[in-house]
Amino acid sequence: MRKPIIAGNWKMNNTIAATKALISDLIPLVKDAACDVVICTPYTDLATAVEMCKGTNIKVGAENVHWAEKGAFTGEISADMLVELGVEYVIIGHSERRQYFGETDATVNARVKAALAKGLKPIICVGETLEEREAGKTAEVVIRQTEGAFKDIDKAELDNIVIAYEPVWAIGTGKTATADDANDTIKVIRDTMAKLYCPKCAEDRVRIQYGGSMNPKNVKELMAMPEIDGGLIGGASLKAEDFSKVVNY
Ligand code: PGA
Repeated sequence: MRKPIIAGNWKMNNTIAATKALISDLIPLVKDAACDVVICTPYTDLATAVEMCKGTNIKVGAENVHWAEKGAFTGEISADMLVELGVEYVIIGHSERRQYFGETDATVNARVKAALAKGLKPIICVGETLEEREAGKTAEVVIRQTEGAFKDIDKAELDNIVIAYEPVWAIGTGKTATADDANDTIKVIRDTMAKLYCPKCAEDRVRIQYGGSMNPKNVKELMAMPEIDGGLIGGASLKAEDFSKVVNY
């Protein structure tokens, strides 16, 4: 059985003061969650988040990591820096990184390797744009992104990796993929993992989230789908009550 995992992606939101308020509201609301609960925060909030979440069921993640160990990469963050803070997860290849910051399948793969080498758990994002969807290329795109992200990644790492299927047109738009569409595309991703590794690995060990305007209203229907193992939540992760309703679906 794959344990569901609900992760918040705060994006570029919340100062340290806002982080303190949000997490103290959140802790009691999600303490009995049946799923894994993760919040991915801006770098400046990580130390506060890790400290506050100690001894709770909330895990903390970053929103990116560089592939190099260290060096002349102004503005970037290394896996060692995140590990030292006590961070456990890291989002890699979010569509906003692909769209605005030149992220490619190759850089996603390099970041995944760097994260795994230091014991961080990647949440790897894949998903098609509206243009690609309308051109009937959804499967082709998620297969290419999945194969690219997992190039030379050992089977032993599968338990430490989460995939998030996020159709770009559904992110922050209020438009959700229908539960059936999300389920079908996640099945395509799982079949790709079966081919890359083995059918049993893909079935038992690969957790695949849906992301894109998931909220307290639609979470139940999405999570009822057999292929959907959780959610990556943007907007609805910024309010403790909304996020807790998603977590406690
Ligand atoms: P959203 O963002 O829930 O605001 O659509 C999801 C994401 O980008 O991870």
